[in-house]
Amino acid sequence: MIPFVDLKIQYNSIAQEVDLEMHKVLEQTNFILGEPVAEFEKEFAAFCDSKYCIGVASGTDALHLALRVLGVGPGDEVIAPANTFVATVLAISYVGAKPVLVDIDPRTFNMDLAKLEGKITPKTKAVVPVHLYGRALKMGLLMDLAKKHGIQVVEDACQAHGAVWEKRKVGSFGIMGCFSFYPGKNLGAYGDAGAIVTSDDTLNKSLKMLRNYGSPKKYYHDSQGYNSRLDTLQAAVLNVKLKHLIEWNKKRFRNAQLYNTKLRGVGDIILPKIPSEGAHVFHLFVIRSKQRDSLLKYLQERQIQAGIHYPVPIYALGAYAHLGLSALDYPVTEKFSKEIVSLPMYPELSEGQIDEVVGCIKDFFKQS
Ligand SMILES: Cc1ncc(COP(=O)(O)O)c(C=O)c1O
Repeated sequence: MIPFVDLKIQYNSIAQEVDLEMHKVLEQTNFILGEPVAEFEKEFAAFCDSKYCIGVASGTDALHLALRVLGVGPGDEVIAPANTFVATVLAISYVGAKPVLVDIDPRTFNMDLAKLEGKITPKTKAVVPVHLYGRALKMGLLMDLAKKHGIQVVEDACQAHGAVWEKRKVGSFGIMGCFSFYPGKNLGAYGDAGAIVTSDDTLNKSLKMLRNYGSPKKYYHDSQGYNSRLDTLQAAVLNVKLKHLIEWNKKRFRNAQLYNTKLRGVGDIILPKIPSEGAHVFHLFVIRSKQRDSLLKYLQERQIQAGIHYPVPIYALGAYAHLGLSALDYPVTEKFSKEIVSLPMYPELSEGQIDEVVGCIKDFFKQS
């Protein structure tokens, strides 16, 4: 069996340190906003080339609170890519704004910046670009467009911890950058967790209150905030794991290179483009095939866990049926949703395991 992600093998490699740090929290009983949270916020802000980090309960909350603190609300439009995890768009709905979707670029899977400008209207307040699968978006071009039209950029970097665009980490370009530490992410906690990074003093102060019942001081509430704090136990785990992130991302990159070399010319497979190291942290390794459904079934029957990210584009989800959007307006997303397969990808995946996945794919095309 080759798992899609192997959290156990990674835990085994850091168990002593993680157990020790979690034990310290249990001993000190500083479960809510304990020291490990502040320590993580300091380290992760620096890691992301940002002044501040605000730890929150999940990546979804990070996106929600980021839009909330900007004052985005009913009557406003917020632009997002048509192929993303639903949470990107849910955050827009939570604040009462209207999601406006843009098709994806066939070369990068990210939002097609050539199509972005056509979606901007006087109601557009913000754009939420997603560094999908771990690939950094062309942030220079995006920031220029946003500046030209006076709209805010909130980066969804939930899949791209440590990805770099022209020497700067993603998350640091927009007014805020949002991260998820869902266990399977490149930097994953042992439960739900998330963070916002920003270099804006006022937003940092407001977000620190907003995640904590809108409270600058216990029992004094300046706004109707939320209970969305980064859990201290999760912060203790993240402090240990952050030290390994660069090395883990390098291993993911090496694994992507191995897949690309070994899968070249196999069947009708279209491989992802590999940019320079750092520009893609390969949260997911996504290939395309016209025979996707039978290939996926073949892999799964042979105990190779593969997946689809995402099988149903946002405009086709029941949750967004009310937007009345047509697949015809998103030809690349529509086509790709029927062709994409995500292969097992994690730092500890060995070359032997990659050979097994590749062998299985070759067998599939021989018999098909
Ligand atoms: C692109 C993207 N945005 C948002 C999220 C939401 O993060 P979370 O699951 O931590 O709420 C995720 C991950 O789940 C994601 O992949």
